[in-house]
Amino acid sequence: MISEEQIQHYRDHGFVVLENFLSPTELSGARQEIEAFIPGWLDYAADPSGPKPDKWDEAARSRRNVRFPFKGSQLNAITLHPELRRFASLMAGGGEIFCEQSDLTYKCKGHYGDVDQDMHLDYVNHTLTYPPEDPTYWQTAFLIYYTDVAAHEAPTAVCSWQHYKDEVLWPAVYKKEDRPSLYDNEVKTTMPAGSVLAYSMRTFHRGTAFLDEGARVGHFISYAPAKPRWMGIIGWPEQGIYSSFSAWIEQAAPEERELIGFPSPSDPYWTQETVAGVAARYPNMDMTPYKK
Ligand SMILES: [Fe+2]
Repeated sequence: MISEEQIQHYRDHGFVVLENFLSPTELSGARQEIEAFIPGWLDYAADPSGPKPDKWDEAARSRRNVRFPFKGSQLNAITLHPELRRFASLMAGGGEIFCEQSDLTYKCKGHYGDVDQDMHLDYVNHTLTYPPEDPTYWQTAFLIYYTDVAAHEAPTAVCSWQHYKDEVLWPAVYKKEDRPSLYDNEVKTTMPAGSVLAYSMRTFHRGTAFLDEGARVGHFISYAPAKPRWMGIIGWPEQGIYSSFSAWIEQAAPEERELIGFPSPSDPYWTQETVAGVAARYPNMDMTPYKK
């Protein structure tokens, strides 16, 4: 459970680290799936004196292995983790939420992703507009780590929003020389495997570079209020051509489907025709809840 103190820390600072958030079973299940998607990365992270994983500096040719819904069940279950959903809904004023994104992310020293980033806000590619103070519009990003993140292993640096309260958050990126105080007040979020960094679209943060040989495997999951439609980072229908997408949709509960934008059983979309059409497209889906 995410504690009241952790929730208050987020409200005060715009971020919180949830140490050891995953249970040992969730963590080991996730690591098994990750080993199948990106063989060798976990072993290399544990012992970077060995050779780097195969094709370590190549981008995945298909996003299918690194984006929800994943083959298997544990990374999908973590994406829709009830505690992440509770937290994201709480931060969005308590209403309905939408899962924007669920991507595996991994890098090592020298990798194309090994970059000392500038301090920035993520909202520029999570909304078409501007993230206001009003929680009705709050989006929450979660970065879950499946390997330990020590000081030399590219921890994400975060600067509490106490340092930039009451200003219009634009520009959304600052170089160190242009605003050194954001960097002077940064916290490097080191944590053990199974932990989570949660932060908001109004929170300055940056990826840091590896200071020594090493690797880290993480998982970006972000949530937005279910409405309005101008927030989000990807379109789930784009994934619909993949069999792993159909497999997930078929076995998910109606409320889980709704989290990625599928119509609820009470939606006026459902008619005899649409029930028949969706049943044809997803033959293993239990259509009972959608029948009037
Ligand atoms: Fe970012």
